[in-house]
Amino acid sequence: MTPTKLEPLFEPFSIRNLTLKNRLVQTSMYSWYATSEGEVSDRHMAYMVRRARGGAGLIMVENTCIDWATGRGSGMPIRIDEDRFIPGLNDLANALHREGAKIGVQLYHAGRQSDARARLVKAGIATDEPAPLSASDVTSTAIGDQPRPMLVSEIDDMVEKFAAAALRAVNAGIDVIEVHAVHGYLLTQFFSPQTNHRDDEYGGSLENRARFLRRVVRRVREVVGPDYPLICRFSADERVPGGASIEDNLQLARWLAEDGIDVFNVSAGTYEARQWIYVPAGVEPGVLVPLATAVREATGKPVIGISRLGMDLPKAAEFVASGAIDLVGMGRSQLADPDTVAKNRAGRADDVRPCIACAECAREFIAKQKRMQCVVNPELGYEFRGTMRPAPVSQRIVVIGAGPAGMEAARSAAIRGHDVVLVEAEPEIGGQLRHSLLPRFHRQEMTSLLNWWKRELDRLKVEIRVGTRVRAEMLNDFAADQIMVASGALWQPPAHLVELLGDRPTSHDVLLDVAAFAGSAVVIGGTEAGLNAALALAEAGTETTLVDDATIGPEISDLMRNEMLHQAREAGVRIIENAAVVSAGREGARSVLGLRTADTGDITVTVDHAIVSLKPTSAVSEWNAEQDLRFLGTVATPAGRLYQATQDGFWATAEY
Ligand SMILES: Cc1cc2nc3c(=O)[nH]c(=O)nc-3n(C[C@H](O)[C@H](O)[C@H](O)COP(=O)(O)O)c2cc1C
Ligand code: SF4
Repeated sequence: MTPTKLEPLFEPFSIRNLTLKNRLVQTSMYSWYATSEGEVSDRHMAYMVRRARGGAGLIMVENTCIDWATGRGSGMPIRIDEDRFIPGLNDLANALHREGAKIGVQLYHAGRQSDARARLVKAGIATDEPAPLSASDVTSTAIGDQPRPMLVSEIDDMVEKFAAAALRAVNAGIDVIEVHAVHGYLLTQFFSPQTNHRDDEYGGSLENRARFLRRVVRRVREVVGPDYPLICRFSADERVPGGASIEDNLQLARWLAEDGIDVFNVSAGTYEARQWIYVPAGVEPGVLVPLATAVREATGKPVIGISRLGMDLPKAAEFVASGAIDLVGMGRSQLADPDTVAKNRAGRADDVRPCIACAECAREFIAKQKRMQCVVNPELGYEFRGTMRPAPVSQRIVVIGAGPAGMEAARSAAIRGHDVVLVEAEPEIGGQLRHSLLPRFHRQEMTSLLNWWKRELDRLKVEIRVGTRVRAEMLNDFAADQIMVASGALWQPPAHLVELLGDRPTSHDVLLDVAAFAGSAVVIGGTEAGLNAALALAEAGTETTLVDDATIGPEISDLMRNEMLHQAREAGVRIIENAAVVSAGREGARSVLGLRTADTGDITVTVDHAIVSLKPTSAVSEWNAEQDLRFLGTVATPAGRLYQATQDGFWATAEY
């Protein structure tokens, strides 16, 4: 039975001639799962069907390209710019319908946010790729390629391309069309004064800047007829200097409602303000909901809210019940666990694999020309392969080390029917994940993830032995068919700091007992471990300085790094980059450090605690090269982060 507090989410909802079974909408997420021709692939089909089975009422296909030559953006999205793409989309629609979901496509043109040419030019490679199109020639700082202003005749053509794409969507059996006018893509570029400097009928006044988008919406409405549901993915706030104001956006929404938009799917940000497209950990779920409510009030039309709502469905239900939004947009939570909706509905919210809102799915993969992948869900994108089917022969598998790599290896092996023993030297399982628990801004996400793994291992009856340090010579005693070593990297202080400072507490000591470091502290080394330690110290009330001889956290994905630095500054951490420690001494119990900085010359820092950030190094040499071992995670790839750990663990037994 649906938990009472979630009931508002499971009320049906009608848009013109369409009824959705519930209020839950998987928003578009560009996946790079299409074939290189832009057709629906087996990979894409299986991924989408798996999400539909999870229970969302409406599943939106990723940004779907209406003009391949000029509009595909930075990759290989699904296409709808020629009739030959209709059958694939029809297959997808039929498959999702069989699972009880409705399907929408998002008609999209990237405009200046296309780096197809920029990548080559930056690498000094000659190319005949055309310049990206836009309203004016304003270069996106996120792309670095000057666009070409569209001719009026090209605008006329593009309106027809949107209309033709809409016709194809209807013919493919798609239930809903969404016009993509957010996140800084072409139609937004025309409305935004930041990117539109034209002096013709498409530039200048609000009416002129709205003209292109309004023409698109009206033409699409003409083509699809009066009963067909139309959504606009709508930019309520670009959050960039010189961008369209909220008031102007609300006026635009009123016009679009007159032009035939039924529902506004309200988001924010552009490539120059990506933290608002996919808000990171540390930002509360629902932070963009007030924008959606403002659009709802301005237009009288239903709205879809977004921003981590799938990660907190009880809160999403409150937003729906209070009338702040009508439908709940879910992005990343659908990637991390396709059964998020079903599990919540069954009262099993604790079983949902939590999205940790790291945004690496977008930043580390899509933005770097890889398929969409997830840090916590290694199966994402491999649903079509049946990776977790029962193993032909059940083996006894021993996994040494219960950090993320070991926990995932044990979980996956147990799902495939193996008999698994997980051995951990520490008194608790979790490994590095336990160390990232302390800083407040992502403590909840990391705790949820660790708890989820614990529950999974329990559910799958994995035998866990904690407090057991295994050495190479003990391995034969396990009588295992396979031994996997996931015991983690060796964490060591940099040699030059040991020489200069002697024996000092480390970032790990801080994370194990932050209260022991009251007063003032300097953390030397801005690795992720150092940044976490500095954050934890500052949050515990220690006056904290973080020093690095280069930049802080270069190994961390950009959005998370920015968020962590923001959190650190908010917590009062003094950050000094490009500063080498050149001298160390004592003043009573206090440490006196001399820093040589590139910018401000020499500085002296006197603190209660001088803490050295540890760096990971390979621990493979601790094991016997003669033995047949499989190494997982940082034990062999010390620079690896959570993503590599879960991938290593999963693929140790998963079927390719
Ligand atoms: C990998 C990835 C790809 C995305 N691609 C699109 C897209 O094609 N079109 C779009 O409108 N939004 C796109 N988004 C934004 C999501 O639809 C959603 O608005 C965003 O992730 C915030 O929702 P969430 O907090 O529930 O994840 C993408 C997000 C991610 C993580
Ligand atoms: S990669 Fe990170 S943000 Fe993206 S779905 Fe997975 S956990 Fe969530």
